[in-house]
Amino acid sequence: MTGSDADRRWAESMPAAYEQYLVPVLFRPFAADLAARAAVLRPGRILELAAGTGVLTSALLEAVPTAEVTATDLNEAMVAFGAARAPGAVWRRADAQRLPFPDAAFDLVVCQFGVMFFPDRIAAFTEVRRVLASGGRFLFSTWGPLPAHGFDAAVQAGLERAFPADPPQFLPTVPHGYSDPALAAADLRAAGFAVEDELELTLEGRAASAADVATGFLTGTPVRAAVEERGDGPAVRAAVIEEMTRLLGPGPVTAPMTAYVLRGAV
Ligand SMILES: C[S@@+](CC[C@H](N)C(=O)[O-])C[C@H]1O[C@@H](n2cnc3c(N)ncnc32)[C@H](O)[C@@H]1O
Repeated sequence: MTGSDADRRWAESMPAAYEQYLVPVLFRPFAADLAARAAVLRPGRILELAAGTGVLTSALLEAVPTAEVTATDLNEAMVAFGAARAPGAVWRRADAQRLPFPDAAFDLVVCQFGVMFFPDRIAAFTEVRRVLASGGRFLFSTWGPLPAHGFDAAVQAGLERAFPADPPQFLPTVPHGYSDPALAAADLRAAGFAVEDELELTLEGRAASAADVATGFLTGTPVRAAVEERGDGPAVRAAVIEEMTRLLGPGPVTAPMTAYVLRGAV
């Protein structure tokens, strides 16, 4: 496996660690915000892409109780985990670039921190447009630049300390590799959307410790495969925790996290 493949691989055992260590800190605050933005649109049929373990799915089911929610993810293990966590939605495995749904089947498509993983975003956005009914909306979020995310920047600093010659590039190139809202808006337009809204949102994440966040990344994301490929797991974990604790402090930690939220209309 090449470094870049390792940087993108989600393995079967990752959902539980992702859910335990990362969702409450990094993803739940943004899910509450995105679900509130969805509720304002009063959609009847919602499709969620790259739903992961279902944190946004649960928030949508609560914020828009009258909607039919279909949640999808590329990774079978995420779909199995999400279906158990948010059984009020219909769960299905789906690649965002080839959606297994008929034309005009949904009023709203949502995607929280998933578009950065799509190799061809214009192709995916074109598929989103195809499955939206007339008047439908596409609401999604993408992370801002790596330095504007206190936790991710600290994890990357830890990885650079552990592997000074060849640090894993997952964080800068994938989660934070689509951090230009002008590019995201241009991709939406290229797929035939009108860009209705584009905003920067900074929320605060709270973790029990820097070690918890390190554990989440080292076991619950593609960082794990990239680290395993490079060698000694316990030494790496110790180096990452030490550097993160130096940067963020010991005990309970908080950090700002910046994202962009975009809304396209058909
Ligand atoms: C950072 S997680 C976000 C999960 C969830 N939306 C959340 O907020 O917790 C990214 C997700 O994108 C999924 N993914 C990656 N490539 C995908 C693709 N081409 N189509 C659909 N989902 C994809 C991964 O399996 C993973 O669950």
